[in-house]
This record gives sequence, C-alpha cells and structure tokens, in this order.
Amino acid sequence: MKPSLGVNLAGLKLKNPVIAASGTFASGVEYSRLIDIDILGAIIVKSITLKETEGNRPPRICETPSGMLNSIGLQNRGLEYFLENELPQLQRGKPAVIVSIAGTTEADYVKIARKLAKEPGVDAIEMNVSCPNVKKGGMAFGVSPNLLSSLVASVKAVYKKPLIVKLTPNVTDIGKMAKVAVRSGADILSLINTVGGMVIDTSTWRPAVASVTGGLSGPAIRPIALRMVWEVARKVDVPIIGVGGIETADDAVQFMLAGASAVAIGTANFYNPNTASSIVNGLDDYLERHSQKDIYSIINKVRINE
Ligand code: DHB
Repeated sequence: MKPSLGVNLAGLKLKNPVIAASGTFASGVEYSRLIDIDILGAIIVKSITLKETEGNRPPRICETPSGMLNSIGLQNRGLEYFLENELPQLQRGKPAVIVSIAGTTEADYVKIARKLAKEPGVDAIEMNVSCPNVKKGGMAFGVSPNLLSSLVASVKAVYKKPLIVKLTPNVTDIGKMAKVAVRSGADILSLINTVGGMVIDTSTWRPAVASVTGGLSGPAIRPIALRMVWEVARKVDVPIIGVGGIETADDAVQFMLAGASAVAIGTANFYNPNTASSIVNGLDDYLERHSQKDIYSIINKVRINE
C-alpha cells in the first residue's frame, strides 16, 4: 500500500504536508503557468494588509551565499483587492488556502481577520508578526511577549478557524515566544521567518538593499530553522510548519523528524518552481523505502541519545 501523506494540523486538513511559503508564491496564479499547483498541500499567499501597500524603495533583493536578502516592505494590493480578484482564483484549486496577514496596529489585524472569517474559501490565517522590513508593526509584534500575546488573543477572538502564528528567529529565546503565542490562542506555529541581515556593495559603499537591512532566506538559514523547530517542538504541543531553506525531500524529512508536521517551501520556488512537487514525490519514496506507513511515523521522531 502507498504510504499516506495526509496531515491534520489542528483541524486544517492537508492532502500532503508540502506548502508554498508566504511571499514566494504570490497567490499562485503566475506559478500555475509553470507547474501543476494542485500538487501542493496548501498555498500561503503573500501577506496582505488592510490597505494597498507600495513597499520599499528599490533595490529590494540581493543574492547571498546559498540564499537571498530581501526587503520588499509588504507590497500588496490590500484586503479588498485580494478578496475580489485573487481569492476567487485560489478557490478553484485543490490546495488549502492560507492567508498571511500583516498590519501596523492590532486593530488592522483584527479588521482583516474579521473579514476573512466570513470567507468559506479561506481555510486558515497565518499571522505575520515577523516582517523585518517595515518601520511600524511587523516584527515589532513578534519580538515582544506582551505585544504578541495581546495581538494573538485579539485575532483569535474574531477568528475561529485554525490560526497560525509565524515566529521570527530574531529573538533570544524562540521557545518562549512560541509558548506565549500558544497560550494566547495560536492553533499552529510556523517558523522561521527571515533572519535579519545586511550586504554592502563595495564599489558604491552603499547597502545592497535600499532599506539598509533585510531578511535573509534560503539554504543558508536551514540549520538555524531546523534547530529552532526542534527547540519549539519540545516546548509546545501544537502542530508546527517548518520553513527555512528547504529544497529537497531530505531537508523536509529532517524538519519532520525535528518535530514539524508540515513544511513550507519559500526561496527554492524562485530558482526551481518544481521544488514542491519533487518534495511531495520524494517524501512518498522516502516513506516507502523506510517501510513507514504514513507521514506521522516520522514526525518528532529524531533520535536523541538513543
Ligand atoms: C518581507 C516580509 C517578511 O515577512 C519577510 O520575512 C521578508 C520580507 C517584506 O515584505 O519585506
């Protein structure tokens, strides 16, 4: 019998644990010209804000060793545009639809969540409390236990479907922030968001991205992400979506062994749009080769001192 790849994340049922990470897949429309997006377990759309946001001045992206630095500044068309133009396209497909939301105030997040709660085509919300590139809000929420607690509780009060909180790695103790998020109402955690970074162009003496610093992603951050998933899995009981530099099925298996119940693919989509589908097939092969009946047989099964 074929091994089962289905997972149930706090009521969010996915046909497989492979997700397109926020910010790297837009709302999937462009990718549908390149790949069969129905292979994905879920799509997390680029964070939406209440009103259209222009984003930061260019340059906004720069390649780094085994990764990239970006500072987009949460560019998006806003909630109304998303509901009218992008959500209908997403609903046609088979992947679950997860909407990433961001804001500069708690009231912004609550307004968006209240609207999304009424949309049957939205399966879950992911709260972006970890964008490193905006002056107000963004990561400020994710590095303060008090702000995070209040924000998550307020959103959970108006949103009854699965609520995902995406944690930032730019803190001293991510386990502590994970506990705060769960205690305040997070049903699922995803981690990690990008790591704060900087690159300087030595021919101009200017920073490579106009906002000076940006968020580092890609394989360069994978061991950091894996270590953090493992730490958080030991501290909380909710499902974890592992994200950070995943590009192969072997990487995905590592995250699942460390405690992730699903994985999100981000930067790798940019250089290989087939990454997600090869990971789905690779997970299938891995379970078969190791005689495991389902994906749960590997989740949180890392052998420490055995
Ligand atoms: C942006 C947002 C993020 O959450 C992130 O990790 C990196 C960049 C942005 O829009 O600038």
